[in-house]
Amino acid sequence: MGILRLGHVDVTVTDLDLATAYYTEVMGMIVVERDADSVYLKCWDEVDHHSLRLVYAPRVGLDLMAFKVEREDDLADLEKAVNRYGFPVQRISKGESVGQGESIRFETPSGQTMELVHDVEKVGGLLPKINPAPFVTGVPGIAPPRMDHLLVTAEEVGEATTFYTSVLGFRVTEQLLDGNGHQIGTWMERSFSPHDLAIVSGPNGGLHHFAFWLDDWESVRKAADTLAYNGIQIDVGPTRHGVTRGSTIYFFDPLGTRNEVFTGGYRPDPDFPTITWTEDNIGRAVFYYEGELNERFMKVHT
Ligand SMILES: [Fe+2]
Repeated sequence: MGILRLGHVDVTVTDLDLATAYYTEVMGMIVVERDADSVYLKCWDEVDHHSLRLVYAPRVGLDLMAFKVEREDDLADLEKAVNRYGFPVQRISKGESVGQGESIRFETPSGQTMELVHDVEKVGGLLPKINPAPFVTGVPGIAPPRMDHLLVTAEEVGEATTFYTSVLGFRVTEQLLDGNGHQIGTWMERSFSPHDLAIVSGPNGGLHHFAFWLDDWESVRKAADTLAYNGIQIDVGPTRHGVTRGSTIYFFDPLGTRNEVFTGGYRPDPDFPTITWTEDNIGRAVFYYEGELNERFMKVHT
């Protein structure tokens, strides 16, 4: 009961047509719907209405992060829990948001707007459920099957992590501690994956990246070729993380939002003991092969 997984990431873009061209032709997402200021997209194996909303705005950034809850009643329970923590909660009625029913929204201690929703319109994936073809055809670009996770920034990672764990029920799979034992990075899950949501030190309200799932390392290698072919700026990779043990590439969409493709990692059971990294190992924690971070990866966020 409670939060199941990431539902959709809503990002603001300064050029809706350019962003849509990139997310469809290079990333290989599918446009589900458009309205006056937004484009709603999904990956080919996702059945829910959308996993990415591009919203026109004069500044690039995170508009909100939406997570799905298991039962309709979870909305009321989590609304009470967030209120008890001292944060106001807004109710969004059915019909106010495209592709979904009632939801709740609130600002988190890390300054992002979070939405929780249960009732999401099912539009179906591209493969039939019975006797599907061995692979999907006709999807251009990288063509990830689904969205995976996001990483946000917070001035006080420890305080934000306490909120996500004690109020919303996230479990911490890994943490990175500074020399004084304070959390400067935490990786949290609800879906028995290495992370659905992660936080690193930075300004409140920031988005470091959101990530698409790929099925294997060969898909990551092909994604690097697709990015290079399309002239997309690669930030880091292909490489592997120490934290999560996942394989990765970081790169930027044409408007400056960092994307990631991610595969691998482990399956944390509910009793998975939190893995602790210390700052002297930060290079290996984040980029296991390189053993060091680049300045851009540390400083650039939207
Ligand atoms: Fe990531």
